[in-house]
Amino acid sequence: MADQIRVLIVDDIPETRDHLAKLLGFETDIEVVGAAASGREAIELAAKLTPDVVLMDINMPDMDGISATERLSAEVPTAAVVMMSVQGEADYLRRSMLAGAREFLVKPFSSDELTSSIRQVYTREREKQSRIAVQPSGNGTGATPRREDDDREGGEPGRVVAVFGPKGGVGRTTLAVNLAVAAATELGQRTCLVDASFQFGDVGVLLNLNPKNKSIADLLPELEGGGEVESIDTFVISHSAGIRVLLAPPSPEMAELITPASAKRMIEALRMTHDLVVVDCMSSFNDTTLAILDLADTVLTMLSLEITSIKNIRLFLEVADQLGYDADKVRLVLNRADSSLGIRVADVEHSIGRRVDHTIVSDGRSVVYALNRGVPFFLSNREAQVSQDVLRLASAVVGTKPAVAGEPSRKAAQKKSLFAWR
Ligand SMILES: Nc1ncnc2c1ncn2[C@@H]1O[C@H](COP(=O)(O)OP(=O)(O)OP(=O)(O)O)[C@@H](O)[C@H]1O
Ligand SMILES: [Mg+2]
Repeated sequence: MADQIRVLIVDDIPETRDHLAKLLGFETDIEVVGAAASGREAIELAAKLTPDVVLMDINMPDMDGISATERLSAEVPTAAVVMMSVQGEADYLRRSMLAGAREFLVKPFSSDELTSSIRQVYTREREKQSRIAVQPSGNGTGATPRREDDDREGGEPGRVVAVFGPKGGVGRTTLAVNLAVAAATELGQRTCLVDASFQFGDVGVLLNLNPKNKSIADLLPELEGGGEVESIDTFVISHSAGIRVLLAPPSPEMAELITPASAKRMIEALRMTHDLVVVDCMSSFNDTTLAILDLADTVLTMLSLEITSIKNIRLFLEVADQLGYDADKVRLVLNRADSSLGIRVADVEHSIGRRVDHTIVSDGRSVVYALNRGVPFFLSNREAQVSQDVLRLASAVVGTKPAVAGEPSRKAAQKKSLFAWR
């Protein structure tokens, strides 16, 4: 049958392998193409059989499931891993997801859980492949996902997306982190996330990062000098979620040392080596934030269904207008759009005089679960609506071409953005 899902089973216990093969034997759309007793054998067989899905046990004697998954992600990227473990602990989940597993099943699981996980992962992978295949060319958005060692020297500068919100606590960091991960893992963008919440940056917490001497603070002497920002790569951390990260200074007082010119030079340097630079901005509208918003191609402006947030958005939109930002540059993102706080989206739109461009659902369970485990929810709960909303937003941002001279007038663009939304 053409559309059968080809599955490779990996478990060191022969009875488990047989049991899983028998369970899957009842399904007409699933075919077990092989079984391996170790991580090493799994990699060999996967390279030969090119399965769609690999059911991987986490604890195996020679090479554990996590190391095998890491190698598989690099060597047979078309094979999606479903990890199986008797331990449901956060650390196992985190390490599996960061190694590249697409799903995590805690043993014992039912046959329904098993087959529905396999089908979901398979469908999602197929969607992902077709999305990558239809990415428009230009602005570094090629059909092939970029690799760590890709050289962009001489290419077009990458796109800068500032995640801003004129009120604190609206979900900027949550969106910035997950948007970056979605763009990197699903859209093949070489992505750098910058924590420009210089005083109290939270990106490190969300990504479980706490390195010594690797932050914007270490770059400052070079940023203040006039020459090239040569050592920026030394301070950018490669995170196993598929993105690169430049963290905020470790202590709040250092934030004052970052001038608008330094922030600008830092982001300009990063866009030369990345397709996408996502910047988690401060909520205060100071000179440094302004410098970042100025150079950004897109400003994702976040708001929530709260009266204070709406008031601040209105003021910000006035400022953006005075600054001459193109109507397409500022995109309104309503976070927790479905929370019933007595204010409706239509009321918000009426109050600010324009439509909301993107919405993200409220999902405290996925978001807080991910936060407490240091894994972006986009990886740990890829099926959730909140992840799908983030991916839709990432696709819109990446797919939009930067404004170039000779494009429709500002008024025309404004008109378009009022009616061509969502
Ligand atoms: N879509 C969502 N559903 C449920 N909870 C959310 C959602 N988005 C954000 N949150 C929660 O809201 C809180 C604030 O989010 P976050 O820290 O991302 O906001 P912020 O704008 O970066 O805040 P700060 O001003 O502190 O930098 C967090 O507890 C986060 O888990
Ligand atoms: Mg924040």
